[in-house]
Amino acid sequence: MSAAILRAEHMFKEFGATKAVTDVTIELHKGTVLGLVGENGSGKSTLSSMIAGVYPPTKGAMFFNGQEFKPASVLDARKAGIQYLTQEQGTIDRMTVAENLFLGEEDSFGRFGMVNMRRLIIRAKEILEENGLSHVDPTQPIDNYSFEDRKMIETARALSKQPVVLMIDETTTALSKDGTERIYEIIEQQKKKGTAILIISHDLSEVQCLCDEVMVLRDGVFVDLLCGDEVTPENMRRKMIGREFEGSYYRADFECTFDDEIVLSVRELSLDGVFRDVNFDLHKGEILGIGGLSDCGMHEVLKTTFGAIKPSRGSVILTDGNIEINNTTTSVQRKIAYIPKDRDKESLFLPTSIRDNIVAASLDKIKKGIFISPFAERQIANEEAKKMDVKMQDISQMVRDLSGGNKQKVVLAKWLANDSRIFIMDCPTRGIDVGVKAKIYRLMEDFKRQGISILMVSEEMMELIGMADRILTMKNGQQTGEFLRSASLCEADIIQMII
Ligand SMILES: Nc1ncnc2c1ncn2[C@@H]1O[C@H](COP(=O)(O)OP(=O)(O)OP(=O)(O)O)[C@@H](O)[C@H]1O
Ligand SMILES: [Mg+2]
Repeated sequence: MSAAILRAEHMFKEFGATKAVTDVTIELHKGTVLGLVGENGSGKSTLSSMIAGVYPPTKGAMFFNGQEFKPASVLDARKAGIQYLTQEQGTIDRMTVAENLFLGEEDSFGRFGMVNMRRLIIRAKEILEENGLSHVDPTQPIDNYSFEDRKMIETARALSKQPVVLMIDETTTALSKDGTERIYEIIEQQKKKGTAILIISHDLSEVQCLCDEVMVLRDGVFVDLLCGDEVTPENMRRKMIGREFEGSYYRADFECTFDDEIVLSVRELSLDGVFRDVNFDLHKGEILGIGGLSDCGMHEVLKTTFGAIKPSRGSVILTDGNIEINNTTTSVQRKIAYIPKDRDKESLFLPTSIRDNIVAASLDKIKKGIFISPFAERQIANEEAKKMDVKMQDISQMVRDLSGGNKQKVVLAKWLANDSRIFIMDCPTRGIDVGVKAKIYRLMEDFKRQGISILMVSEEMMELIGMADRILTMKNGQQTGEFLRSASLCEADIIQMII
């Protein structure tokens, strides 16, 4: 193998008492795809962030093209040719698409501090078109676009100038099948062009397909570098958790098991331009899945069912008390939980503590008269954080400082604290490591046994087949079919109904 284009040696990163990365040395080579795997909170994003100039290492040195490399900022690293697609949203709200595309490079579109907006917009249009985003208007605020579009705009930005190093952090799990395939194409093209690529992913079969080598981290420490035939999901899993992975992943039964009792009834639900005439009943103790492509309207069906979007027509009725759900206050009071796909934006208060986030939906429980009991608050937060195995210093830590997967665990903990009876879950295991994923599946089974109902959207067909009692399929905003749980159900059956 050729000499490394980028070498980060003996890297350390500490955040207060947290040792996020300890003495890790990593090398990226031209035209080579290196995978980086490890459990939630094992230091993957921290390591890649240091290379991308997000923050400096506590200790360690980086060499890029044989020269010592100390990026002062993300822009600095970008200018050197290091592009980083972050795990969460990497674009900036309230700025236009064009501004996001050229952040820090406006100078190249003008002279004497005057930016030639016309040239900037023309170039933005070109970049968007080259990346299959011709429906995006560069003059619009970026907030007007979906999570997926924003990720693809971020990707377009990363590729607008040929990168030398491209790092992709847990991106495909946030994307639809189309978006994921586009990323795979990009990886292949970039590899041919000699770009050094780093991929962080919890989808171990994806890692196996894409990567030439895989580095495994555990608790911020280097465990192993796997090459060639050693790169198998089993091997990675074992190295990640330090022991054999035991037990089944999905539900072991193939029965369609739930009560006849209907808990939630959705009738003729329509949102103009997005979905129409959606009808279904959710039963007590049922896991009802909805499958489709990302833009088929299923995410919006969940949001509308929770009362976060006003439908154009139709109704969502909670059978107990015959209550219409048309706002989120009612749904939270009535013990309906919602786990959105974009947790950073819709479900967590990032600048506050883990404790505050966990108790946010359970104020009734922690109130003593008009006062909030700090003791009850701490107790509930500690209990639920422990149930979900949140990797943290303590419950007073800021949520924004948690790793991606651990943020997701806090969202789940919040709704567990609220004793929710209906869980609406949008891609519940996005960005979650294998161990915790299995834990969430066990939790879902547990819910079922307690008579709690789950309405779940997932872009992973295996997850739907593995967990749901019934699966509804959607295409272009309309329901197209229904499948009952069975041992013979396979991915192809469902895919046929959604594309
Ligand atoms: N800005 C920060 N302040 C304090 N602690 C942090 C900060 N960023 C990360 N950490 C901590 O460092 C550790 C490693 O986090 P990191 O985000 O690198 O994990 P990860 O491997 O990317 O996990 P995931 O798979 O969940 O994304 C975690 O314990 C996390 O809470
Ligand atoms: Mg991460």
